Amino acid sequence: MAAAYFPGCAVRPFGSSVNTFGKLGCDLDMFMDLDHIGKLDSHKNAGKFLVEYQVKNVPSERIATQKILSVIGECLDHFGPGCVGVQKILNARCPLVRFSHQASGFQCDLTTNNRIALKSSELLYIYGALDSRVRALVFSVRCWARAHSVTSSIPGAWITNFALTLMVIFFLQRRSPPVLPTLDFLKTLAGAEDKCIIEGNNCTFVRDLNKIKPSENTETLELLLKEFFEYFGNFAFNKNSISIRQGREQNKPDSSPLHIQNPFETSLNISRNVSQGQLQKFVDLARESAWILEQEGVDHPSPSHNQPWGLAALLVSSLASGKSSSGKKRRRPASERVKSLLESIRGPSADANADGKRTLSTQTQ
Ligand code: UTP
Ligand code: MG
Repeated sequence: MAAAYFPGCAVRPFGSSVNTFGKLGCDLDMFMDLDHIGKLDSHKNAGKFLVEYQVKNVPSERIATQKILSVIGECLDHFGPGCVGVQKILNARCPLVRFSHQASGFQCDLTTNNRIALKSSELLYIYGALDSRVRALVFSVRCWARAHSVTSSIPGAWITNFALTLMVIFFLQRRSPPVLPTLDFLKTLAGAEDKCIIEGNNCTFVRDLNKIKPSENTETLELLLKEFFEYFGNFAFNKNSISIRQGREQNKPDSSPLHIQNPFETSLNISRNVSQGQLQKFVDLARESAWILEQEGVDHPSPSHNQPWGLAALLVSSLASGKSSSGKKRRRPASERVKSLLESIRGPSADANADGKRTLSTQTQ
């Protein structure tokens, strides 16, 4: 349909359906690539005739994008076979047309000026292919987040899957020795064929996996999952920003609760939408999960107990209420346990309370 208006255009998939971090039912992100139309010689030979394409001038690239998507959206709505629920979301930072394709069951997002997102998909693909623990950890964390409504399919103040993926990559860059290299390091390994500048942003990184040395880190997935929760349960979100480019905390440039630097447009925060409340929920659940995994190292339940353990223990929806999926009382949340521990050591003097509190908070960290 796009080619009816823009002969020679291409529609390319990106996002989780191609970067190997997708699961069944994820949306299909598509990018309508009009770039090379302009670059092609506008005169095209068609037999004996000379065909010429002309595009009218508009005040800005954004307006051009909105106009193009508006037309394609109308066209999909009226004539797209099986395309239903077409929404034109043209005032978003990145304008898009959203629709469902009935025959395939796909929820589709179509954009046109999103070339950098293609590069981030490629980068995530590289990270996913570098070490088998990456995708396993990302899927575990995404699954955990979904089970506790930290993420949602409805747009809002929630953490997104993309943000969680960058958090996992960042965490793996912080291990010692690192499981994953930083983006800056991948840039140093790049050859001439990898060079890529998009709208003034340097998107260069090595794309040949053979040029990247495997990690010397041998930590198990079980340990990494526990450490992930420990790490982000205690991360200084109030002052630090997450950057997979440098692979270390940066000073937060603004006051948004969660700051995750866009890998290629480094002035952008990919989690600008996240509210303080949603971030706090993530932190509380991360601490709770770290505690549960820590306890399991101490008293591993026997299989005959018929109780979920390991990752499964973290997925029961009643994590915060302390009940197991069978309805039995499992464990009280860490915050409650700490409170009752505090109560139990509370002495007659206020000083003793303060000391007790200090000792406990050191122990629980
Ligand atoms: P999505 O939000 O659809 O994420 O953005 P996703 O990775 O496909 O994950 P799910 O499974 O749909 O939840 C699609 C792509 O757009 C880019 C990323 O490359 C992402 O993979 N993107 C998204 C950005 O560059 N910046 C953003 O703020 C969001
Ligand atoms: Mg997607």
